[in-house]
Amino acid sequence: MRERLERDYERFKRELPRDFPEYVRDAYRIDLSARYLGHTLPHPIGKGSGQLSLNLEQLETDRSAGIAFVVLKTVIAEDPAGERAMAAWAIHETRMRVERRRSQTGREGWTVTWKGRGWDRSFDDYLALVRSAGDLTRSGEMVAVPSVKYHLPRLDEPFRSAEYRHTTERIAAAWGNDTLSLEKDFSPTLAGDSLADERSQILRWLREVPDQIRRGTDRPVRLALKLMNARFDDAFQLDMLRASASADALVVFNRLWDAEQGVAYGGYDLSERNLRVLELASRSDISLPSLVASGNVCSGRTLLHYARAGCESIQLHTGFQLPLSEYPATSGSRPQRALHALIFDPKDGLVAGMLDLEAEGQLERRDGELKFLDLPTLTRV
Ligand SMILES: Cc1cc2nc3c(=O)[nH]c(=O)nc-3n(C[C@H](O)[C@H](O)[C@H](O)COP(=O)(O)O)c2cc1C
Repeated sequence: MRERLERDYERFKRELPRDFPEYVRDAYRIDLSARYLGHTLPHPIGKGSGQLSLNLEQLETDRSAGIAFVVLKTVIAEDPAGERAMAAWAIHETRMRVERRRSQTGREGWTVTWKGRGWDRSFDDYLALVRSAGDLTRSGEMVAVPSVKYHLPRLDEPFRSAEYRHTTERIAAAWGNDTLSLEKDFSPTLAGDSLADERSQILRWLREVPDQIRRGTDRPVRLALKLMNARFDDAFQLDMLRASASADALVVFNRLWDAEQGVAYGGYDLSERNLRVLELASRSDISLPSLVASGNVCSGRTLLHYARAGCESIQLHTGFQLPLSEYPATSGSRPQRALHALIFDPKDGLVAGMLDLEAEGQLERRDGELKFLDLPTLTRV
């Protein structure tokens, strides 16, 4: 199998097999099936919300590359009059810099430096993209879901329910499926904002936002909260997980906030913190909703660590933006090249990692197959 993996890695540098999860199942007896917000996926790798999911062309590139799911760019909620409590997040900025970033532990990773925030075009433009995302999801080829940033009150203020209702109802109608799948973003810029100075205020949001969203539409809603890295300690990240119990899934965790430079950042500082907190959570008594990983997944090994820390699927952003020279593949779109390395790298890829776990006696075949969805259960207590 190892020799076969070396050969596959080399020949797939030019092109991935059309249905690579099926190929992996046949060739290695490895079942890569994964889960995102109640959707069964052929494999765990998706695209996180951001500048890479703004339009139809990007969705089409991802579909043809074989990405399992995409989260659309975060839109800023509005009420029927077009008022937006979080309007400060709808700013226009196009310039992104993909840069090296050394972590506090001395590891070289990548980060994207960008001063923008949420969707900066009209809500109607967003709804048009949501309609296409609904069509794609129904076609069974790729799950594509919307993401929203809604009003977040201070402790002594009520939620602006009209904004929640108007935005959720219109998105649900545009997406068009019986059950609306939706992410609610708590971003690093929010973590850096004075709104997030108070712990009790953040915990109230996490407890009450799911109900505010669900009350916004008659349709059932499957909701993922994308949690931020707040500017407090690891124990507070656990408090945030505890407060989020009514969500259907948690995306863990969005980027870190660099207060000096006034920018969000990633790299190994991000994955090390996220994994540390997830490991603490898995050893605690917190009963967690389904987990989705986010943060510095630039290799199959990091992907494997997140899976072993409880995550049933993985979202990337930076990993789809690297300089072409960083991908071992010699042709194809960035999503294709990233999938090639994440799955087939003979040392660091997901297939190699699962075969290693089998060799070490940590992962067993069931019905003759190694199963990706067995990984999140390995370390649970
Ligand atoms: C340029 C840029 C824009 C982003 N915009 C959003 C956004 O609008 N909504 C959101 O939920 N996350 C957003 N993110 C966060 C990513 O989806 C992802 O969670 C984060 O970058 C960590 O993953 P990574 O290390 O793979 O990049 C953005 C990230 C980047 C780099």
